[in-house]
Amino acid sequence: MTGPSLSPDQQQRLLDAARAMLEKAYAPYSHFQVGAAVLTQRGGIYGGCNVENSSYGLTICAERSAVFAAVAAEGPGMKIRAVAVCALHQGQDQAASPCGACRQVIFEFGSQALVLFTGPSGPQQVVISDLLPGGFRL
Ligand code: THU
Repeated sequence: MTGPSLSPDQQQRLLDAARAMLEKAYAPYSHFQVGAAVLTQRGGIYGGCNVENSSYGLTICAERSAVFAAVAAEGPGMKIRAVAVCALHQGQDQAASPCGACRQVIFEFGSQALVLFTGPSGPQQVVISDLLPGGFRL
């Protein structure tokens, strides 16, 4: 199935996969743990977490980590159907809208990808092209 929307069951599975990644996050500097999971058009689910570094700028976000895991598993034809993101800071759930860099990376692999995340006013499901209007294409 390639439609833009996900069934409640698919949403829950993807959110659970993102949440399961929180415990893998390496975030000793910000203590802001982020988990993400990508659902591909083929039906695969791949998780990622943020990985920080003493040289702060080398940190990678959870979303990019998940997208790159999906490419590593399925190859260059990988297409994103949806991405779920969740975040935890000192044991508290946090709003987790993907950063600009991650939006561009998600857009690369699916201009209609759905992004599921916790916003300031509760859970949100937004198409990537609405989060990133005019995404760059080479
Ligand atoms: N982070 C993510 O993993 N995803 C985002 O979209 C924004 C920020 C991570 C990077 C860093 O480890 C921590 O959150 C605080 O910025």
